[in-house]
Amino acid sequence: MGRVYNFSAGPAVLPEEVLQEAAAEMMDYKGCGMSVMEMSHRSKEFDTIIKEAEQDLRDLMNIPDNYKVLFLQGGASQQFSAIPMNLMKNGVADYIVTGQWAKKAYQEACRYGKAVKVASSEDKTFSYIPDCSDLPIDEDADYVYICENNTIYGTKFKKLPNTKGKPLVADVSSCFLSEPVDVTKYGVIYGGVQKNIGPAGVVIVIIREDLIRDDVMEGTPTMLKYKTQADADSLYNTPPCYGIYICGKVFKWIKKQGGLEAMKERNEKKAKILYDFLDQSKLFKGTVVKEDRSLMNVPFVTGDKDMDAKFIAEATAAGFVNLKGHRTVGGMRASIYNAMPIEGVQKLVEFMEKFEKENA
Ligand SMILES: Cc1ncc(COP(=O)(O)O)c(C=O)c1O
Repeated sequence: MGRVYNFSAGPAVLPEEVLQEAAAEMMDYKGCGMSVMEMSHRSKEFDTIIKEAEQDLRDLMNIPDNYKVLFLQGGASQQFSAIPMNLMKNGVADYIVTGQWAKKAYQEACRYGKAVKVASSEDKTFSYIPDCSDLPIDEDADYVYICENNTIYGTKFKKLPNTKGKPLVADVSSCFLSEPVDVTKYGVIYGGVQKNIGPAGVVIVIIREDLIRDDVMEGTPTMLKYKTQADADSLYNTPPCYGIYICGKVFKWIKKQGGLEAMKERNEKKAKILYDFLDQSKLFKGTVVKEDRSLMNVPFVTGDKDMDAKFIAEATAAGFVNLKGHRTVGGMRASIYNAMPIEGVQKLVEFMEKFEKENA
């Protein structure tokens, strides 16, 4: 079997060029006689890999000098604890709960201090983003937390919340590098890379320097302290070397495509093809209010479980894989990250049109 169109929500499709380059360098990385998997994280070669990766990410996102870039492990989920442990100076934080991931982050923060749910869209199965223009932000809040793109439900903050001067902390796991971003609007931007950037095992944390403190919550593990990682330039211990190497290649691939403006244009084009089809379809229907639709994750349903299952089975057989929706939503979900080519979405829509005719 050749390559399929992989609509997985994560780990997800990577650019073919990147995979080919990695394959070519597998046995002998740039004449050093070994794979990147086999080399010391203290070697000259790896030093160049991680420094270039950081610089390319800084270039792509236009990250100001007063922000640190950390390449860590533990996935996005470990940040659910690291964030309150490092940032809850007053012991208070406000959470906007727009899906399972934000909810998990909120629940974890409750273990460490007073986490307040200041807004939620749980009343309508997280199918929209609540109005966040005038929330009751706590005067003592150390930060306001959002999950910017909700992978499971397919919603995205099109406008950042008014945090009333408090630092904004955002989980961008499923929209990382999908469009330009103004880093200065955030205190912390973080995400697991396994959706839009690289293989599972790396989480990137971009954090404003004044939020990196020594006097973190008592009991915070050394490894979870941002200061430990920042002081050591992500090399306090062995980092996820191979994952960082692939991320670095993806950064270069995005640069070659024209950077984040080009990504946005491409992603809007892809999402439009799918949403336009859903909006006129008599069989399939999107599950999210139009104005909050994600460019990355597109959930849809037929309204009939058996028909959903039939569609998923036939789509899989035709080479469109991982279209099953999250178990809490049901139906289907097409994740169309940066590396999904436009023709992947065009062909999926052609397939859906054909399926609709056959099952009218
Ligand atoms: C938005 C978001 N946050 C957090 C996670 C959890 O990431 P991890 O598995 O890296 O802990 C995911 C997905 O898997 C996600 O989509």
